Amino acid sequence: MTDRENILNDARIYVKKELAGDSSGHDWWHIVRVTRTAKLLAEVEQADMYICELAALLHDIADEKLNESKEAGLAKVVQWLEHAGVDEAGREHIRDIVSTMSFGGGAGQPMATLEGRIVQDADRLDALGALGIARTFAYSGSKGQLIYDPELLPREELTHEQYRKGRSTAVNHFYEKLLKLKLLMNTEAARVLADERHQFMKLFLQQFDQEWELGNERYV
Ligand code: ADP
Ligand code: NI
Repeated sequence: MTDRENILNDARIYVKKELAGDSSGHDWWHIVRVTRTAKLLAEVEQADMYICELAALLHDIADEKLNESKEAGLAKVVQWLEHAGVDEAGREHIRDIVSTMSFGGGAGQPMATLEGRIVQDADRLDALGALGIARTFAYSGSKGQLIYDPELLPREELTHEQYRKGRSTAVNHFYEKLLKLKLLMNTEAARVLADERHQFMKLFLQQFDQEWELGNERYV
């Protein structure tokens, strides 16, 4: 095996172990899907495949939700990169991608490199479509949020703060964030995939509303 293959192999083992028990939508299989998508996009965009793969594998290790602080999470990633023998340029690049992705969230600064844009697209694609729906309900359940609550503020009027404090519902999250992601894709290939997943989510929400309303002449 080459050095790079060795490093990628070590990363897989490390990340699988770190995220194995997560039930908030950041489990190992989320990482596998994001990494696979990132490699696909990297091929289309002719980006650095090694950087895309390594960054995708490590992208949630520094997540705020899984660490004491953003800084602690990022330090963990940098430490691992050094220990694994990643060269300085590679370490800097991965650090930049992981920090911009997890700190900026949706409203953050644009990604500085093509590889960063690709990994961010791959991560966002996993929040869309059938998988996105599944993850949203799983995450909501883990936070004790309801599926939906018609007595809550109208979906569009919920502020980011309210939804961050858990005063939201799974269905609200679609209007808060997921339906907006399509327009935030960086690469053309991701836009095409996002479009299909967006349509599927809209269909799901339409059916959801229809079933919710069935014969429901203001019972309460
Ligand atoms: P990632 O960092 O992998 O992009 P997030 O940490 O933003 O993802 O969220 C993980 C998953 O949980 C995503 O699928 C996302 O849509 C969902 N999620 C995040 N916040 C909420 C929320 N307030 N309500 C419901 N689902 C959420
Ligand atoms: Ni992620």
